[in-house]
Amino acid sequence: MASVLILGATSDIGTAIARKFAGEKYDVQLACRNPLSISNIAADIRIRYQQDCKVYAFDAMDFKSHQPFYDGLLSKPDIAICVFGYMTENDIAVSNTEETLKTIHTNYTGAVSILNIIAQDFAARKSGAIAGISSVAGERGRQSNYIYGSAKAGFTAYLSGLRNSLYKDNVHVLTVLPGFVYTKMTENLDLPKLLTANPADVASAVYAGLKKKKNVIYVKWFWRWIMYIIKAIPESIFKRKQL
Ligand SMILES: NC(=O)c1ccc[n+]([C@@H]2O[C@H](COP(=O)([O-])OP(=O)(O)OC[C@H]3O[C@@H](n4cnc5c(N)ncnc54)[C@H](OP(=O)(O)O)[C@@H]3O)[C@@H](O)[C@H]2O)c1
Repeated sequence: MASVLILGATSDIGTAIARKFAGEKYDVQLACRNPLSISNIAADIRIRYQQDCKVYAFDAMDFKSHQPFYDGLLSKPDIAICVFGYMTENDIAVSNTEETLKTIHTNYTGAVSILNIIAQDFAARKSGAIAGISSVAGERGRQSNYIYGSAKAGFTAYLSGLRNSLYKDNVHVLTVLPGFVYTKMTENLDLPKLLTANPADVASAVYAGLKKKKNVIYVKWFWRWIMYIIKAIPESIFKRKQL
């Protein structure tokens, strides 16, 4: 039975991905900071989809725990999906060093630390797939979100390099750029309805992207064109904009 490991499983997107894969007959391994908080979801997955569902403690910022965490999995996954992330208001992320580092370490350093370990295992086994939930915020730095955006930019570049590195080992790497999604992370933001996806949309896109061995996906197709235009604006004009 194929299995999927979800890192950051308490996230709204992570939960939706877990349900999608369980519905497609995957066993599910949920990794999150507080396993108790997700026990109801794990039980529901076992009953509703009749799939095995295990829960593990995992903290992206506790780098030293990453190798023991992976070694401690009762079975190694076929697919690993890195979903966890952290975003606060940019003013806070700029002015409070603790928040600056938390943003960088959660979205970039922590992801790199655990995925390096998983990538080595998959490369040795000559099989597997890794997906990372990055962000369009990483495609161009904006004054309103450049601490989070720069961490996601680093993560996107890391995933690109990882894909290139693991190709020879038959390991696929998918970069996911969701655009806006209605989740806990964005609940205080006034998101434009037409541009915003639901966690279930992201889950379906991740599943389809992995099945089709896509390299980079935008969950809603128009985000590719929005970002194409945003990236094309000359820096001399871009720097004057309130973005
Ligand atoms: N929502 C959007 O519009 C949007 C757009 C683009 C990309 N994304 C990305 O999508 C991913 C999922 O976010 P979401 O929107 O579903 O938000 P969310 O529901 O707020 O999920 C964030 C998750 O990250 C986990 N997390 C934070 N720090 C962690 C740590 N140190 N160790 C382990 N887990 C940690 C949280 O776990 P706890 O339950 O323990 O707090 C939570 O499960 C993130 O990478 C986010 O950057 C979201």
